[in-house]
Amino acid sequence: MMEPFQRCLCPSVLSADFSRLAEEIERVREHTGLVHLDVMDGHFVPNITFGPPVVKSIRKATDLPLDCHLMIENPDRYVPEFAKAGADYLSVHVEACPHLHRTIQLIRSEGMIPGVALNPATPLTALDLILGDVDFVLVMSVNPGFGGQSFIPVALDKIESLAQRIRSENLDVAIQVDGGVSLKTVTSLVTAGAEWFVAGSAVFGAEDPAAAAAALLEKIHG
Ligand code: DX5
Ligand code: ZN
Repeated sequence: MMEPFQRCLCPSVLSADFSRLAEEIERVREHTGLVHLDVMDGHFVPNITFGPPVVKSIRKATDLPLDCHLMIENPDRYVPEFAKAGADYLSVHVEACPHLHRTIQLIRSEGMIPGVALNPATPLTALDLILGDVDFVLVMSVNPGFGGQSFIPVALDKIESLAQRIRSENLDVAIQVDGGVSLKTVTSLVTAGAEWFVAGSAVFGAEDPAAAAAALLEKIHG
């Protein structure tokens, strides 16, 4: 498993060819820190993607760490299934978890690395009583549900404040950013303090995903 807290690219297969996921992931392998898998249920977000069976197949196809971003209602119900399917990192939305502390402990007890995700309109204060219990925070810079949306700039201030807070409290928490990450937006996100960069359309929507991933990674490493 990768060392935490180094900057990395997390290609999101949401914009890849779902009939050839193994090949798509292999194409960007050398530029990938975590493979980002967007799980959507058609309730928490207005789109449906895939669940544990697909994660299980991807697990067989790659040894890269799998980072599952759950955009689903009642995630507790499915946490053990994602562990069994082979997820390494699991993030849940604060907006979908009435018992967030319990959910985070459950993810950890199932042997996965827990993260908490915040929608663009959810303030950082939602993290006040949970920040010390998670390994990463996923700051959404689009409203979750679809790939290829425009970056919402308010995420930059949010990431900057979060980075300051993590530093001042001396916490081991990584900041992941997801949504509208591209060659245009990535440098400002690095400056703000993001560390793990999810990119879907900017990688798999490109003619040459490997070249696109390499170009992003170059900017990520400054
Ligand atoms: C959106 C997903 C993202 C998505 C990002 O709800 O969480 O991971 O793949 O897509 P881009 O990079 O195209 O904005
Ligand atoms: Zn995502």
